[in-house]
Amino acid sequence: MGLMSGKNVVIIGVANKRSIAWGIAQALHREGARLALSFQNARMEEPVRKLAADLPKDTVIAPCDVTVAGDIDRFFATLQKEMGHLDGMVHSIAFAKHDELGGNFVNTSWEGFQLAQQVSAWSLIGLAKGAAPLMEGRDGGMVCLSYYGAEKVVPNYNVMGVAKASLEASTRYLASDLGPRGIRVNAISAGPIKTVSAMGVADFGSLLDSMAQKAPLRRNVDQMDVGNTAMFLLSPLARGITGQTIYVDAGYSIMGA
Ligand SMILES: NC(=O)c1ccc[n+]([C@@H]2O[C@H](COP(=O)([O-])OP(=O)(O)OC[C@H]3O[C@@H](n4cnc5c(N)ncnc54)[C@H](O)[C@@H]3O)[C@@H](O)[C@H]2O)c1
Repeated sequence: MGLMSGKNVVIIGVANKRSIAWGIAQALHREGARLALSFQNARMEEPVRKLAADLPKDTVIAPCDVTVAGDIDRFFATLQKEMGHLDGMVHSIAFAKHDELGGNFVNTSWEGFQLAQQVSAWSLIGLAKGAAPLMEGRDGGMVCLSYYGAEKVVPNYNVMGVAKASLEASTRYLASDLGPRGIRVNAISAGPIKTVSAMGVADFGSLLDSMAQKAPLRRNVDQMDVGNTAMFLLSPLARGITGQTIYVDAGYSIMGA
């Protein structure tokens, strides 16, 4: 029996096999969870279905673009119909325009700021509102993905750093709001991992190098390091933990210089 057997978990953010969300999916599947996966749009449906071929046949796959009006409601209506209830939700999505992820932060545009906040931070609130009625009183949890740029200045991370600060604050407000309904909400602050989204940050390679040199564990983290922690946070083992940002960064964030 796995730690998550008998539990239903929805994962928003699998795009390809490098996605952090895919590491989380593998850890949850290994521990016996039944999964639902979203895909962002028609173009991304096939790659997600191909990956899901490795998962059991009762895996639910449905569209959800958090910027499309009505998509979140339609998504959770599908999940209610197919799964009945949820024990966990994983938020592993973010987006900012390429030209906002480099250069001078002072040039951040209102449109770029708004879009980064909508997809990367507000979506946690919108998705939590949709998921909560299906999670009511089940001692389940929600997990989202943040990064160190939320609290310290990381070159080129710019508008996404501000969105991640908003995501971490939203995690605390949601934890307070949803705790009485038996729902925990936590964030994982992951070290840099080479994914499609990450490659959009100018000079991303130097973040990987710097972490491997300076982190106490002298290495980078990978999708499974994050996947196993997300699984733990959603599992009954973490039933006393909510509103926290947990670092999965080989210790990088404790270093002063
Ligand atoms: N890779 C890293 O170095 C790193 C480090 C810390 C945190 N994170 C965070 O991890 C999460 C997952 O990113 P990843 O690195 O696995 O990259 P990824 O490109 O594999 O995943 C990003 C996902 O966001 C989804 N997405 C973007 N816009 C969307 C929208 N409008 N509606 C619905 N979904 C949308 C994409 O479809 C994709 O599945 C993000 O929140 C990211 O900021 C990544």
